Amino acid sequence: MINALRAVSSRRLLDCCSVTSTKKRDKKIQLPILLANIGQLLTLQTFSAKAGPRRGPDLKQLGILNDGAVLCFGGKIVSVGTTKDALRDPWLKKNRKKVTEIDCAGKVVLPGFVDSHTHPVFVSPRLVDFEKRIEGASYEEIAAAGGGIRSSLEGVRRAGKSALAARVLAALYDMAAQGTTTVEAKSGYGLTVQSELKSLEAIREAASRWAGTVVATLLGAHVVPKEFQGCSQKYVEIVCKEMIPAAAKRKLAQFVDVFCDQGAFAPSQAEQIFEAAMEHGLSVRAHMGQLAHTALRPFFRFDPASFDHMDHVNEDDIAQLAKHETIATLVPGANYFLGLKEYPPARKLIDAGVPVALATDYNPGTSPTMSMPMAMSLACTHMKMTPGEAVAAATINGAWALRVADRKGSIEPGKDADLAVFAVEDCREIPYWFGANRCALTVLGGVADGLASFV
Ligand code: NIG
Ligand code: FE
Repeated sequence: MINALRAVSSRRLLDCCSVTSTKKRDKKIQLPILLANIGQLLTLQTFSAKAGPRRGPDLKQLGILNDGAVLCFGGKIVSVGTTKDALRDPWLKKNRKKVTEIDCAGKVVLPGFVDSHTHPVFVSPRLVDFEKRIEGASYEEIAAAGGGIRSSLEGVRRAGKSALAARVLAALYDMAAQGTTTVEAKSGYGLTVQSELKSLEAIREAASRWAGTVVATLLGAHVVPKEFQGCSQKYVEIVCKEMIPAAAKRKLAQFVDVFCDQGAFAPSQAEQIFEAAMEHGLSVRAHMGQLAHTALRPFFRFDPASFDHMDHVNEDDIAQLAKHETIATLVPGANYFLGLKEYPPARKLIDAGVPVALATDYNPGTSPTMSMPMAMSLACTHMKMTPGEAVAAATINGAWALRVADRKGSIEPGKDADLAVFAVEDCREIPYWFGANRCALTVLGGVADGLASFV
């Protein structure tokens, strides 16, 4: 199993041990790490000849190795195999003292979760909305009465960048504690040029202090702010002509997102925003079909990375998605927290060959959870996904949704050393123990987080 490592000279190993990782890694050292005695190692390696996101029956292929071991070095996965093979390897025998060995004692190890849809740049929880909904008001009614997204704007507009960055960083730490190693983070609660850029800068600042990976998204078109009510087109012009060019020029975002729905932005406006994004070299994704149906067909010309929510989809949308690499990202936390009876039709999508991912949609209005295992549990109980499908949707297909599948989402030599160790014997327990955090250790880019308390 250590074949790949044999090729690495001991000189390079010493370099790796002595050098602090990157400037963004909190100055932690990426020592060689061996995770051994893994009860179930979910590699998520693909054995299918078909490249691309996992679809249909391939979604539940987890590539499980029993009694596995993973060697990480310099922030990358170096080799993957059985513990027996790892310990027999002459290189490891010789260099054992340089390697931090983590005895997983039968626990489950899987790729760190890729949470491909979050809104972490906000200041306060929306407790008034929460209580109004309990009394029977709907998300749309609360928004129309001045609550909802618009009520989160003032706090973000007033906050300083460092205060916002501190909130984002706190969320990233909470996510990592539950097994997440890659996070997509959207702006979208400022909705002025200045406060959207400030939000993206806060994401960048938080990312620079976290060992995991953050992918930033400009969501300037989250809702029409009240200054532009009745003249939404003027706001769209600002998004297209000011926000997108400024975010692109300063390399603050990889993606542009639009909330394309009833009460938010019209499909024609989403197309204009996508056009501006493409002109400035940014990729696109969208909130689609959460409250009402929007036909997806006109949007495929922009090669969107993902359509998210997808509560309302029709046969044509499904047929189109099955033909493309655009991921359908399902966020059942939002349905749960809004108290909805209906959930997105995951079974129908998967059975039709649509590549499906799962994400938390962490935000103050519809989904205040940072837990991917919770999203997976909801996917199993309410959307009838199998635990295996939920694992792949939360890892490798999340990586596809962020266009980072070449580096993330599976445990394979050469990929980033992003791992989650769960104190369970069987991977099906991850969505089973809902509301409990069974994540015992997270490895983010080769940096082990939680080692001090690991048993
Ligand atoms: O994904 N639907 C749009 N955006 C969020 C909700 C944001 C909020 O209510 O603050 C979502 O559910
Ligand atoms: Fe969202």
